[in-house]
Amino acid sequence: MKINKSSTKKIQLAWNSVYKNEYDEGLRFLILGLLDKDFSLDGVIQEIKNKRPIQYIIGEWNFYEGTYFVNQDVLIPRPETEILVDHIKNNFLNLENVLDLGTGSGCIAIEISKIFKSATIFGSDICEKALKVAKKNNNQSNNRVNFIKSNWFSDIEGQFDLIVSNPPYIPEGTKLEAGTLFEPKVALFSKETGLKDLKKIISEAINYLKVDGTLILEHGIGQSSELSSHMKKIGYKNIGTLNDLKDINRFVYGYK
Ligand SMILES: C[S@@+](CC[C@H](N)C(=O)[O-])C[C@H]1O[C@@H](n2cnc3c(N)ncnc32)[C@H](O)[C@@H]1O
Repeated sequence: MKINKSSTKKIQLAWNSVYKNEYDEGLRFLILGLLDKDFSLDGVIQEIKNKRPIQYIIGEWNFYEGTYFVNQDVLIPRPETEILVDHIKNNFLNLENVLDLGTGSGCIAIEISKIFKSATIFGSDICEKALKVAKKNNNQSNNRVNFIKSNWFSDIEGQFDLIVSNPPYIPEGTKLEAGTLFEPKVALFSKETGLKDLKKIISEAINYLKVDGTLILEHGIGQSSELSSHMKKIGYKNIGTLNDLKDINRFVYGYK
């Protein structure tokens, strides 16, 4: 069915029974997201009751300048990660080869491909199902990203000007908030207090960067100094950090 006065009312009632008139913004986004869509009212009401994130109920979400198809095989693109794309847009004049490791929905790689129109862009992920979503998003966009199944660098070849990644960084065993419960665990958790994947990427990326090439990573709260030290130990130069929208250290970068 399509959204109308009666279905809106029923969705609102279901929403308020679950969220008790809190999180009104979520209800607003849900109604907006369902505009022009064909949906099952009973299905939507059930998903509200299950507290499934609205992004998965709607099946898409906006990221930077695009709209991305999402399902439970991929992380819901986050506003923090838009800062990463914006930083890349504002700090690089020209990029020839870019690699986005752990591409998920493909959101970072696809947005970069729209900004750097002549660059060759690769997006990789260990998860076949995530790559299926990324390819669908790529097809709906400019189809300029090449996707590869790879366990971090296992199947990566070549040298890049820029390697970017938003890898899993939540320490294993952390209790997740309600919305995050639905997201793929492989996208969220990392061993060694959340640092194992980040450190592995830092250690190996240096072999895949051109001279003066950049590695830039998103990370969790409180991980910045240990990652900066690890970058230094591996041999990166001009190491720096960037903050997120809440002014918390969220990104670390370094040059080969
Ligand atoms: C936090 S999500 C980021 C997704 C997307 N780049 C974004 O920013 O919305 C991390 C991604 O890394 C992928 N991943 C986890 N372990 C991996 C590995 N060993 N090799 C490659 N990708 C991996 C997950 O499947 C997931 O898509």
